[in-house]
Amino acid sequence: MRLAAAVLAAASVLLLAACGYEGTVAPTAKQVSGTLPKQQTPPTLAKGDPTAGKKLFTSQGCTGCHTFTPRADLDKLPQYAKKANQGALAQFVATSITNPGNYIQPGYSNLMPTSYGNLPSKQIADLVAFLTQKQ
Ligand code: HEC
Repeated sequence: MRLAAAVLAAASVLLLAACGYEGTVAPTAKQVSGTLPKQQTPPTLAKGDPTAGKKLFTSQGCTGCHTFTPRADLDKLPQYAKKANQGALAQFVATSITNPGNYIQPGYSNLMPTSYGNLPSKQIADLVAFLTQKQ
């Protein structure tokens, strides 16, 4: 995690983020027929809106601790997800937001507020869509 020193810097890098993220995104099923085995928490995510997620990323204060740019911490999400072995990328990201203590990145402290678990699921989905979008 890199601390975003200046809000201004964070705001400008967010604009640049649009061309920098090259993570792999696991495909999510849009339609399911028949019954699936019961999933562990968290529940399947709704389809989020990355543009709304981008706004939330700023308005919810994520930029106070995170940056989302090439070479910044959240750009390593696919790599983190793999290491954490916590399921698909979107699921890992969702859990990281709603229940940050679930998996702590080695070398980091569990500093992330747990209050984001109270965000409406639509907003969680939007944030996940923003952070996992393939550019
Ligand atoms: C007070 C600082 C703080 C704020 C605010 C914060 N985070 Fe975090 N976040 C952290 C820290 C520290 C970690 C690394 C420890 C961990 O894995 O939980 C982390 C981890 C994560 C991870 C998992 C990847 C990783 O580095 O382990 C995601 C995804 C994430 N944050 C997204 C968000 C989003 C989205 C928001 C806004 C809704 C947010 N964070 C707000 C501090 C913060």
